[in-house]
Amino acid sequence: MRENISLMLNGNIEQIPPINSAVTLMNWLRNNKNLTGTKEGCAEGDCGACTVVIGKYNHSLGRVTWSAVNSCILFLPMLDGCSIRTVEGLAYSEDELHPVQTAFIEKHASQCGFCTPGFVMSLYGAWCKKQKPEGSDIDNLFAGNLCRCTGYLPIKKAALQIGAIPEEERDTSYLNIEEEFVIQNLKNEPLSIDVKNEKRQFRFDAPKNIKMVGPILQEKDPLILSGATDIGLWVTKKHMEIGHFLYLGDVKELNFLNENQKAFEIGASVSHEVAMQKLGSHFEALLELWRRFGSEQVRASGTVVGNIANGSPIADISPAFIALGASLTISHLENKRVIPIQSFFISYGKQDLKKGEFIKSVYVPKLEKNQRFECFKISRRFDQDISAVMGAFLFSISEDGFIEKAQIAYGGMAAIPKEASNLSELLIGKELGNLPLDDCKKALKEDFQPITDVRASREYRNDVAFNLFVKACDKISGKPSSYLPGAVFENVSGNSVTKSQQNV
Ligand SMILES: Cc1cc2nc3c(=O)[nH]c(=O)nc-3n(C[C@H](O)[C@H](O)[C@H](O)COP(=O)(O)OP(=O)(O)OC[C@H]3O[C@@H](n4cnc5c(N)ncnc54)[C@H](O)[C@@H]3O)c2cc1C
Ligand code: FES
Ligand code: FES
Repeated sequence: MRENISLMLNGNIEQIPPINSAVTLMNWLRNNKNLTGTKEGCAEGDCGACTVVIGKYNHSLGRVTWSAVNSCILFLPMLDGCSIRTVEGLAYSEDELHPVQTAFIEKHASQCGFCTPGFVMSLYGAWCKKQKPEGSDIDNLFAGNLCRCTGYLPIKKAALQIGAIPEEERDTSYLNIEEEFVIQNLKNEPLSIDVKNEKRQFRFDAPKNIKMVGPILQEKDPLILSGATDIGLWVTKKHMEIGHFLYLGDVKELNFLNENQKAFEIGASVSHEVAMQKLGSHFEALLELWRRFGSEQVRASGTVVGNIANGSPIADISPAFIALGASLTISHLENKRVIPIQSFFISYGKQDLKKGEFIKSVYVPKLEKNQRFECFKISRRFDQDISAVMGAFLFSISEDGFIEKAQIAYGGMAAIPKEASNLSELLIGKELGNLPLDDCKKALKEDFQPITDVRASREYRNDVAFNLFVKACDKISGKPSSYLPGAVFENVSGNSVTKSQQNV
């Protein structure tokens, strides 16, 4: 076991003695290293001002990968064995800036400059990944970076300038040094920090081997930590003091993404970004959902399993995977059990996970020839926002267009991500292009009694859930908007009106 955190910061090796609290990478950079170019805007992963680029070994891909991440919600020990580059470490010398910095200057892509280091580092992340951003790629690249004064056009032009640089002309000397460090550090003993003073005790276990996970969970009561895109906010916003983390991000056996003819199996430490690349080619609708999941920075850190494990009623992946008939493998010491994903969610904040257990992986069956899948996310902002309602629809359809099986699930409609079982059952044997929509609406109302909160009213949720269902049916049957002319809506006072009455 090892207590010192070993990392590479802007090309220099750092050995950091045990810390005794959950310090974020951003605070350590700013307060301990005086690297104040990394800005604090929101401290909750929303604005991108704190973006840095990290290099980490990815066992599922078998190589070192570089990602732009939000340093405000990553805990310092999670960076053990990684390389970190901040905006201060980009320039080649006092006289020679990095091409990404030059592009920002030449395109006048900065005014007050507060957001600029974050944008620069996001673009540097694309540089490291050898991306050539253009068109909507640039919007996706910067969806997690907010600028309130420059306007995005000059920033996009800076990205285009970088995209136009041919790969062979891109200097990779930083990456070579970092890669060597990261690979060398794979041989290190696992990190286990355990410090105590009169005020508090802090423990951080980062096992590298799956066999070490169960006993720690069994003997102690640690909080399982994966990408920290949920837990980070518990610390920075709710000011929770967490005394013991069990970090799964270094466990080799949990970082896998297998594919065979029938299914995908996603290990517990696989990020949204990696899963999106692989599953997106099979599930077109999931690709679009993932594109709107947080931002590049959030998808690079956050894990698919973390999204499920958190049990949030507004998590995006859970309803989609319920509809797809996914199952979870839950480990406990040497044992394991496999459960359908929907039975994992018991009630608000309560999941089917007993002491000593953790989720090892999620299994997602591929679509069969007669199956069609759609999912849609409705949020207040298009990008980087949590869903108000999320609907996911899987239909098995006979050759003559009749529904043989339906699996429909929603987020944002109940205290847990939940299947619309009445609606799913009602649809069996019905013709997809000719559904009894009034009955469907009634069934959906029996399935859910949503609440009103800051994201949406109860009435809006009911309406939008039904509309998403119709949208999915229309899209799959190829008969657009079939329901609109005779549709029955509920007005604010709860009276039924037709679409034409509503227009009057
Ligand atoms: C800016 C921002 C935008 C976001 N946008 C979205 C969005 O669009 N849609 C959405 O659904 N979510 C969104 N999220 C939430 C978050 O990114 C996801 O829920 C993410 O998948 C959580 O994964 P993680 O690895 O970061 O989990 P962590 O924060 O590390 O952990 C989350 C929870 O899961 C538990 N856990 C993690 N792994 C395991 C395991 N293997 N076994 C058992 N328990 C485990 C932890 O103990 C904790 O309770 C957003 C978050 C931020 C900060
Ligand atoms: S400070 Fe806003 S994302 Fe980190
Ligand atoms: S330059 Fe001022 S916030 Fe972007």
